[in-house]
Parts: sequence; C-alpha cells; structure tokens
Amino acid sequence: MTRTVYVNGDYTPEDQAMVSVFDRGFLMADGVYEVVSVLGGKLIDFEGHMVRLKRSLSELAIANPLSDDDYLAAHRELLARNDITDGLVYLQVTRGNPGDRDFAYPPADTVPTVVMFTQSKPGLADAPAAKTGWKVVSVDDLRWGRRDIKTVQLLYPSMAKMEAKARGADDAWMVEDGRVTEGTSNNAYIVKGNTIVTRELSHDILHGITRAAVLRFAREAQMKVEERAFTIEEAQGADEAFVTSASAFVMPVVSIDGAAVGSGTVGPVAVRLREIYLEESLKTGV
Ligand code: PDD
Repeated sequence: MTRTVYVNGDYTPEDQAMVSVFDRGFLMADGVYEVVSVLGGKLIDFEGHMVRLKRSLSELAIANPLSDDDYLAAHRELLARNDITDGLVYLQVTRGNPGDRDFAYPPADTVPTVVMFTQSKPGLADAPAAKTGWKVVSVDDLRWGRRDIKTVQLLYPSMAKMEAKARGADDAWMVEDGRVTEGTSNNAYIVKGNTIVTRELSHDILHGITRAAVLRFAREAQMKVEERAFTIEEAQGADEAFVTSASAFVMPVVSIDGAAVGSGTVGPVAVRLREIYLEESLKTGV
C-alpha cells in the first residue's frame, strides 16, 4: 500500500508529495515538529502536543497556519487513509517558501509549509526492548541553547545516536557542564529509593509531553519527584534509570557507559510507570 501523506491541505501518495527547494525548513532547518503516538487507533496526549507545537511556533515567530481542530482532523484522516492502528504521526510546520534563499526571515505573510505523515508500528506498546531495557552511553551535549523549542535541526542528536550505536549502545545521554541534559530524543530519569530525579524544565531540554504525564502519575502513585540535574556517576549509582518519549513511552535503562544500573535489569519503578502511562493515556486518547 502506498502511504498517503499530507502536504499543505492535500492528501497525496508519498511519491508525489512535493515541497519547494527554497523551503526554509529544507535550507535553514527553520521549522518545528511534533510526534504523536497512536495506540489502538487513538492519538495519545494529542492536546499536550498541540500546546507545545503552538509554543514552538510562537518562539520562532512562525504563524500557526491551522486550528487544533484542523490538525486533529488531518491526523485522523491520515490514520484512516493509511489504516494505522499502532504507530506514530509526524507533523512538521516550517516558515515556508520565500522563493529564494536569504538569512532574513521572509515577510510575515509567507505561508508556512505543513507536512504530516504516519509511521505504522504494529504492537508499539509491546516493544521487546521494554523487557530488556536500553544501554546508554554519555556524549557531550553540543546542541544549540534553545532545546525547549522542538525544531527540526536534529543533526547533533542524530550524530549522538550513531555514536551510541558504534559503542554498542541503544542511545546516548547528553552531558553539559558535568550534568545530564536528556537523551537524543527522550527525557532522562534516575530512581533512588522512592524518589524519581529528572532535570528541571529550562531552555536546556525539551519539555516532554510524556514527561509531564509520567511525573503526574508518579506523584499520584505517592512517589517523590525531584526536578534537578544529575551526573553520570549519580545515575550509575542509582537503583534504576529510564527515559520517556512519545515513541518509547517509559523505557528502562539498564546500563550507562558500560556500568550496570542497580541490578542491571529492568527495574520495578520503570515497569510500573510504563504500565500506568499506557493504561491512563489510552483512556484519554482521542
Ligand atoms: N522526540 N527530548 C528530546 C530531545 C526529544 O526529541 C523528545 C521527543 C523528547 C520527549 O518528548 P515527548 O515526550 O514529548 O515525545 C525529549 C520525538 C519522539 C522524536 O523526535 O521522534
């Protein structure tokens, strides 16, 4: 089946979809994105992703071209056309096509480009990796200073992912000034006793939508949450570690730079939080 993608209001076979070579997203990484997971045909945490999309656009002074209802309708249309039960919907909004290359932003009435596509991932919630956990390695965080804006400039995270693979790991935890910022495409956590530690929100990390939900569920389950930065050494000495994202949900981390975390196997807190997250977010899925 040829995948149908969305480009500026049209539903098009993927091999016929077109975006200009002058699009600012292509030339300048001048665009933002969201990834929403789909479980049992339902969009998970959709509202939170829309709130963050609007914040990212506004931080870059890109006009939001669609209403939340339009975005929702397009997500649903793509799920139906591509027969998606479990998977992801990727949404990207760029500053559009000014018709030439220039460092200055084009006039404010330049129409943003909106692209959306689906990725089918049957059994997404039952990923085998959730049973064995991820190995992570540390790398320097060499990204820019506004990581709270979900821009499409993902080259450094991509390089970090490749370094992790080359070192026999599943992902990299990025470190700045001696402290972990986040994973290449996820937020990072450690667990010590009944306390979950994760870096506080700032310009240094993406404000994960899954993070917000998981911390809420953790507090409701009477766990203590400390929002502060931690070092790799502290993480290696923790009882457990895990990451969260829209595509990995809650994913246990079992080793860091070759050192086992806790027992070196998937820990009970991560397992429980994954269960709660999947259960609760399915209830509120749209
Ligand atoms: N990445 N931190 C970074 C750097 C991310 O790229 C992501 C998400 C997260 C987690 O955010 P959320 O819980 O809202 O998905 C944290 C997406 C999944 C991606 O790029 O594919």
